[in-house]
Amino acid sequence: MEVIVVATVERYRKLASTRIQTKDSVIEIGCSTGETTRLLAPRAKSVLAIDCSEQMVHKTREPFCAFDNVQIEKADARDTELLARSMPAPDVIFLDVGGNQQLDKIATILRGLMRTYQPRLLVVRNEELATFTGMICDVERIESKPTFIKPNLRGICDDAEVVSPLMDLSDSHLVSNRAYAIRRLKNHIHNADVYDRIVAMKADSSPTISRIARGILINHEEG
Ligand SMILES: C[S@@+](CC[C@H](N)C(=O)[O-])C[C@H]1O[C@@H](n2cnc3c(N)ncnc32)[C@H](O)[C@@H]1O
Repeated sequence: MEVIVVATVERYRKLASTRIQTKDSVIEIGCSTGETTRLLAPRAKSVLAIDCSEQMVHKTREPFCAFDNVQIEKADARDTELLARSMPAPDVIFLDVGGNQQLDKIATILRGLMRTYQPRLLVVRNEELATFTGMICDVERIESKPTFIKPNLRGICDDAEVVSPLMDLSDSHLVSNRAYAIRRLKNHIHNADVYDRIVAMKADSSPTISRIARGILINHEEG
């Protein structure tokens, strides 16, 4: 897999117009108003462009009606289960959820993508990641693949494969990640480990997470 990290949107869009082959299926994460989508659409075989903002997706869908090969969906980049269902084996992934986002957020998304996909090319736009990777002068190559790389996971995930990354995310130090994880874990509360994790999250340091956990457990007991 070739990974390219850029800091500026100009460089990112340049790659969208120079690195795509006509046979490529592309996932674009964080399509916003569709500027990069406009460059990908005429070059790729198919493009799945996602954004977590309903407003953006609503606005951006219309101009792409004429393109049969472009699908614009509201989705969160962390929802790799949904992504894998919509596009099981992309050749290329473009990821830009905001150039100035913290490294933690990018790392969470990259981890999910690496567990799910093995594209030919991954382009990431993020200033912190570009700064950090630019400082690297030597990398020790390791023989065994870390557990977050699961190139064989293609297509629809089973329950365990969905739950495991959510359980990891529920331990994240970012409240937004824990909130995302617990909201999705509630759909798997029949699983004893998930139930225990939600019970433990009642004592979360964030009052929001603790409130969500209590609400889920009350609903579960009533239902
Ligand atoms: C800077 S814009 C992307 C600009 C785009 N690359 C371009 O060339 O115009 C970042 C977008 O990422 C979206 N975003 C942020 N977090 C996201 C997430 N977790 N999943 C999906 N989209 C996300 C935001 O709603 C925003 O529209």
